[in-house]
Amino acid sequence: MSNRSPLADPAWQYIEHTSMEDFTAADWAVMNAQRAIFTRNHQAELVIAMLRATSNVPSFGYRISNFRHCLQSATRVLRAGHDEETVAVAVLHDIGFDACPSTHGDFAAALMQPYISPRNHWMLEHHQIFQDVHAPHYPGVDPNARDTWRGHEHFAWTAEYVSKFDQDAMAPDEDTLPLEAFIPAIHRLFSRPPQPRPNATWRSA
Ligand SMILES: [Fe+2]
Ligand SMILES: [Fe+2]
Repeated sequence: MSNRSPLADPAWQYIEHTSMEDFTAADWAVMNAQRAIFTRNHQAELVIAMLRATSNVPSFGYRISNFRHCLQSATRVLRAGHDEETVAVAVLHDIGFDACPSTHGDFAAALMQPYISPRNHWMLEHHQIFQDVHAPHYPGVDPNARDTWRGHEHFAWTAEYVSKFDQDAMAPDEDTLPLEAFIPAIHRLFSRPPQPRPNATWRSA
């Protein structure tokens, strides 16, 4: 039995070193060439599988599950005539809600950052706190917490998204498209050339 994980493509090369400290520039060139193809081929499928996995997660009190909330939000965004990126962002905006609850906005923002506009990235990062104005009776909430960012170039879009497509997208009887309707948009989003992270101080190994 092989002690190596299978390569995604049999024509690819293993890097034989077992410590990154020993990797040469040539090794990294091989690795990064294979990585780019690997990411292009697998990232969207993995993201869709992650979202699909949440379809089996029950609700803890809302009348619909988080999975269905994601579909309902994206359906509204699509029907409102927004662009395809925004539709894909909507269907994935709460992908971390069940697994990463308190920071799920950051989770989604990090997942999509290389492929989306600063406007949608900022919206994902801030959508949780922009919900507070819609939940005035949540314990300890400051309904005006979003005012910290009033005047920011992405304030209006974030407020609109949360108000029209998020905070009340929990209606059991609302006509909602299935996940399959959004899969081509997710594929096209993750097939965009990835943009570097602003002010990046890291790189992926
Ligand atoms: Fe959320
Ligand atoms: Fe949401």
